[in-house]
Amino acid sequence: MTSIGFGIIGLGRMGAFHAASLNGRIAGAHLVAAAVAPADRERMLADGSALCTLVSDAEALLATPGVDAVIVVSPSSLHREHIAMAARAGKAIFSEKPLADSVAGAREAAEAVRATGVPFQIGFQRRFDPGYARARQLIADGAIGKVEMFRGITCDRIPPVEFLRTSGGLFWDLAIHDFDAARFLVGDDVAEVCAAGSIMVEPRLAEFDDIDHGIVMLRFRNGVLGVCQSSWRAPYGYDIRAEVHGELGKVVTEVDEQFPARLYRDGRLESSRHDQFVERFSVAYTTELQAFVDAIHAGTPPSPGVEDGLKAVEISDAATRSRRSGGWVAVG
Ligand SMILES: NC(=O)c1ccc[n+]([C@@H]2O[C@H](COP(=O)([O-])OP(=O)(O)OC[C@H]3O[C@@H](n4cnc5c(N)ncnc54)[C@H](O)[C@@H]3O)[C@@H](O)[C@H]2O)c1
Repeated sequence: MTSIGFGIIGLGRMGAFHAASLNGRIAGAHLVAAAVAPADRERMLADGSALCTLVSDAEALLATPGVDAVIVVSPSSLHREHIAMAARAGKAIFSEKPLADSVAGAREAAEAVRATGVPFQIGFQRRFDPGYARARQLIADGAIGKVEMFRGITCDRIPPVEFLRTSGGLFWDLAIHDFDAARFLVGDDVAEVCAAGSIMVEPRLAEFDDIDHGIVMLRFRNGVLGVCQSSWRAPYGYDIRAEVHGELGKVVTEVDEQFPARLYRDGRLESSRHDQFVERFSVAYTTELQAFVDAIHAGTPPSPGVEDGLKAVEISDAATRSRRSGGWVAVG
């Protein structure tokens, strides 16, 4: 089996993890080079923190010999441009979510992928998390009968405001994972949403009409109802959960402890929680990238694909519009 050479666009919080994965954790692939923003490139060259060769920019990366596939893990506002460039260059693409920072941009990115037919996977790692994957399997096997209701929760520590300025907002950056998990677990598309939001943590979010707490009600095409609850506050550690109710029972994926051991003492029960998403999803992040590499080797379409990326963005957009205007808003 020949090894697939990867280029990475972006080596920040998430890009550094994918780069480390490609430096030994992923079979059948290796890291060739990366492109980062000019200021980061200067800093990384000075302090020696780059995990690979750094080229001048994304265009140079795509022209680097040995780069067969690309991971787009630049800021969300650049995904459209970087996906379209990589597709035109004929590279297989793994892109972090969201597909773009607008529905029009996401449609453009999706069209570039469809038109060139390059393999594409979007970074919805929850589908590869052992808990979410088991929940999906149980539901698909009929363990809870007909699905009737969904609940998803994500609470995380707030990132720097400068990151949030280009993230698209709470529903585009954070809740989008619950929107995809909802589609994945319920097995249907969302028809309409109704959202509310508030600022409880960071007043500067008002400068760009963002929020740090949000609730989104979902109505699926098949009549199933759902709710997604998101917040940029998690003082007790990273917190995610999904609960799917059916006519025979419910499936809950929430075992979120850092170690599978609890201390029972003095009338108390203690366990440790994960602090950061990189820690909580380390298995899922590696498994999703391995699945992408395996699909390229097998010549099968990677999943979740560009249409899943687009559907999730459409829900994020509808939720944002509903939060601003009030009332139910159709998705798409
Ligand atoms: N799947 C997940 O759970 C998850 C978690 C975190 C972030 N993300 C996504 O990953 C993306 C990156 O997030 P992050 O937290 O790593 O951000 P970050 O700010 O830590 O890193 C961004 C990186 O992009 C680089 N960059 C900026 N402009 C560039 C350009 N023009 N050309 C090339 N590189 C450029 C920067 O130098 C930096 O290395 C975002 O889209 C975010 O939504 C996904």
